[in-house]
Amino acid sequence: MLPFEKATSLYVNALSTMHSLCFKKAWDEKAFADLLCLPTTVGYLNDCAFVLFSVCDNQAEILTLGVVPDARKKGVASSLLKHSFDELKKAGVKEIFLDVNVNNLAARKLYEKAGFEQISVRKNYYDEAGQKSDALVLKKAF
Ligand SMILES: CC(C)(COP(=O)(O)OP(=O)(O)OC[C@H]1O[C@@H](n2cnc3c(N)ncnc32)[C@H](O)[C@@H]1OP(=O)(O)O)[C@@H](O)C(=O)NCCC(=O)NCCS
Repeated sequence: MLPFEKATSLYVNALSTMHSLCFKKAWDEKAFADLLCLPTTVGYLNDCAFVLFSVCDNQAEILTLGVVPDARKKGVASSLLKHSFDELKKAGVKEIFLDVNVNNLAARKLYEKAGFEQISVRKNYYDEAGQKSDALVLKKAF
């Protein structure tokens, strides 16, 4: 696994390629370029994984996170979260929030292992081709 680097607009191609391997609704290069233009967006990636946060004062929210299928279940996402949290802590972040689909068991396990706790539920938040599902709102405090 290559070391994690800070996401910049130089990486929009790698980010959109990896995103398309991880999600049905892929974000294109422009979507990543627009996000990375914002001063509030912070992200990290390597050759097989990525994460973007929106940071405001001492709070951060995970916008997207993924590991390409071939690299899963090897601890990559856990390492990426640890790296990101170390960096965000240095920048003064004290709380991280995220939404996760109640049916996404892999992500729920990842976040539980990383120390997140459920603080709320958004009923029918996701709608994939008419199939509705709840979002769990999770929080981790440093
Ligand atoms: C969720 C995701 C990021 C996990 O990445 P990963 O690199 O495989 O995760 P890790 O290897 O660090 O695993 C973390 C924990 O979750 C568990 N886990 C990972 N995938 C799992 C799965 N499919 N089912 C059950 N548990 C799983 C691991 O076993 C590990 O727990 P353990 O140490 O007790 O064994 C990856 O599956 C992914 O990219 N999915 C598609 C995109 C996505 O859902 N992103 C999150 C949106 S909120």
